Amino acid sequence: MKKKAAVIGYGGMGGWHVDHILKSDVVTLAGIYDIKEERRALAESRGIRAYSSREELLADPEIELVTVATPNDVHEEIVIASLEAGKNTLSEKPVTLSLESLERMIAASKKAGRIFSVHQNRRFDVDYLAMKKIHDSGEIGEIIDLESRIHGSRGIPSDWRSQKEYGGGMLYDWGIHLIDQALMVLGFDVESVRCTCDHITNDEVDDGFKLYIDLKSGKKAYIEVETYNFIAMPRFYMRGRGGTAMITDWREKAHIAKCKAWNESDVLPVETAAGITKTMAPRDSITMDEYDIERPVSDVHDYYRNLVRAIDGLEEQFVTHDQMRTDLKVILKAFESDAKGGDRVYF
Ligand SMILES: NC(=O)c1ccc[n+]([C@@H]2O[C@H](COP(=O)([O-])OP(=O)(O)OC[C@H]3O[C@@H](n4cnc5c(N)ncnc54)[C@H](O)[C@@H]3O)[C@@H](O)[C@H]2O)c1
Repeated sequence: MKKKAAVIGYGGMGGWHVDHILKSDVVTLAGIYDIKEERRALAESRGIRAYSSREELLADPEIELVTVATPNDVHEEIVIASLEAGKNTLSEKPVTLSLESLERMIAASKKAGRIFSVHQNRRFDVDYLAMKKIHDSGEIGEIIDLESRIHGSRGIPSDWRSQKEYGGGMLYDWGIHLIDQALMVLGFDVESVRCTCDHITNDEVDDGFKLYIDLKSGKKAYIEVETYNFIAMPRFYMRGRGGTAMITDWREKAHIAKCKAWNESDVLPVETAAGITKTMAPRDSITMDEYDIERPVSDVHDYYRNLVRAIDGLEEQFVTHDQMRTDLKVILKAFESDAKGGDRVYF
């Protein structure tokens, strides 16, 4: 039987959750609560039950799962209230804004004996899944490094995301997705972090950042989120000892280039205006194999399917508490590094 779920915070992402729960084969919607009267009225106009208070929602004995989709600064308070009411609880990302806060949430979940996880839904993005598959299958050999970028051109949204007190800024907003994806590909064994933040359209919070993560395995990740780029760089770029993989845009396939004749000696030098170079001469089909790989198939509904199976004790939850700790710690260390002018900060 489907489990009853409710959503607290009926804004942009709360609306997404409601739509997905309504289409789900494992959960059914009990209703929503939003602090704003007009959002509750909007839900009711759509035939969705709007609870009149958080307390009323949490007191409904039929609800087994609560999704929290409010601004980031109030995740902790609502998640803990939900767990204490005996509800399994899913927080939107970023789970919260400090490690102490996260530990309080994890402790509340252990005490209540209820599932507590965070919505890292971008683990279902097919561009990321393609990179993970290339990494895990050894398609381009042992991986050296991974670059993951998203470039927008519209600045940071002018809502709560542009304000520090709500947990705004791009590290918390998009950084958390790209950090989680990179660690899912390369491993969660973080050794150190270096980061510089940008403030092109906003002085209060980062409207972009450049982040290097060094792993204990020797692999390296470079993550860049920017909101002031009118030409976007490739979405993903990964180097292995046997080749290179690139995805130009998140709607595109992964392109692979493998070198089949490393020691080709009769390379034609490239002539540029100021001289010649053999080192940087491009390769051709005599020494290279190039091809695209099919986009993986993914279904984001698997997120709620996993949650329900985790509630029933049949599977481990998709995003574990340790992964939540590491993802958040990378962000906090990134802020620390930025405050030190981009110096390396150890984990
Ligand atoms: N996983 C994703 O892909 C994704 C995408 C967008 C946003 N998010 C996350 O979802 C959360 C919400 O973002 P959004 O874009 O929907 O913001 P939003 O501003 O559109 O919606 C937030 C809603 O929460 C309500 N709210 C605020 N405080 C509340 C409280 N104490 N109790 C009940 N309701 C409250 C607001 O009235 C508003 O309707 C954030 O944590 C954000 O990072 C995740």
